[in-house]
Amino acid sequence: MTTQRYHALKVRAVTEETHDARSVVFEVPPELAETFKYRPGQFLTLRLPVLGRHLPRCYSMSSAPTLDAHLRVTVKRVKDGRGSNWVCDHVRAGDTLEVMAPAGVFTPASLQGDFLLCAGGSGITPVFSILRSALAHGQGRIRLLYANRDERSVIFRDELNALAAAHPARLQVIHWLDSVQGVPSVAQLAELARPWAQAQAFICGPGLFMDAMVSALEKAGMPGEQVHVERFVSLPDEEDVAAINAAAPAPAATVERATVEMELDGELYTLEVGGTETLLDAALKAGINAPHSCQAGMCASCMCQVVEGEVHLRHNEVLDAKDLAKRWTLSCQALPTTERVKVRFPG
Ligand code: FES
Repeated sequence: MTTQRYHALKVRAVTEETHDARSVVFEVPPELAETFKYRPGQFLTLRLPVLGRHLPRCYSMSSAPTLDAHLRVTVKRVKDGRGSNWVCDHVRAGDTLEVMAPAGVFTPASLQGDFLLCAGGSGITPVFSILRSALAHGQGRIRLLYANRDERSVIFRDELNALAAAHPARLQVIHWLDSVQGVPSVAQLAELARPWAQAQAFICGPGLFMDAMVSALEKAGMPGEQVHVERFVSLPDEEDVAAINAAAPAPAATVERATVEMELDGELYTLEVGGTETLLDAALKAGINAPHSCQAGMCASCMCQVVEGEVHLRHNEVLDAKDLAKRWTLSCQALPTTERVKVRFPG
């Protein structure tokens, strides 16, 4: 598997955020500044060398573009999590890590307007970036609903206090501590969300929290297109990807060859793709630097939108029905099923 999509970045600092969360700050050399430009809410994929294997791991950036000089990801230990524990135990200032260019579509189309930001635990990471960016560049009001197990688990507590104090008319931070209030119910979350039904909602956190939040927003009357959810699944080790893809079922209807147009970074590429070849494989073979990380349908860094023709999505653990309805697909799992296909990667 090629690794040229990763770039070696030096760790500038590691800071302890809570007893079980660390931030890693990266230095980006000037020649990679353009590559590592990002939008609030996006993530970095790190290639972690753990016990002789290579683990791709996606971590959201907690830094905010234009406000912070350096990239920063914040990582919370997961019980038995090989990647998160390795980062928290091993990474030191001065180390070099393999890092992929920023990816992800959990980012506001505009920083104007009102936001209802909903974070559970380490889900605060991308939300914090969106929050600071919206405060700095927008004029709307923001309610942050931040759920944690207990007080010592609250990441960025002092920074959030300072932001709320500096923007009393625009920012309201509501902490929900399970240790004090119990696990929030859908009905309780819906009441907190109800006055914000006109806002854009961004949700990140543990699966159960996100599911409850999505139901709560529906109950509160928020239209589905205003609800944005970031779901991460644990990616397979690089060493296991080929076997996973080989086990994926073949499409029912296929074509022998397709002409695929790819719009990426303002360029339009045309390539011939075999019917059993993924769009990503064909692009990489043609030397096109298309974004990707897991190559197993689990991370969404290869997301693109089908604007013409049809594809068969082999394996998908990240796109939901709403994404699919908008014709988003995963280029690492998409096989052409019509003779002409056009896809567009997010700019
Ligand atoms: S590269 Fe991870 S879903 Fe395609």
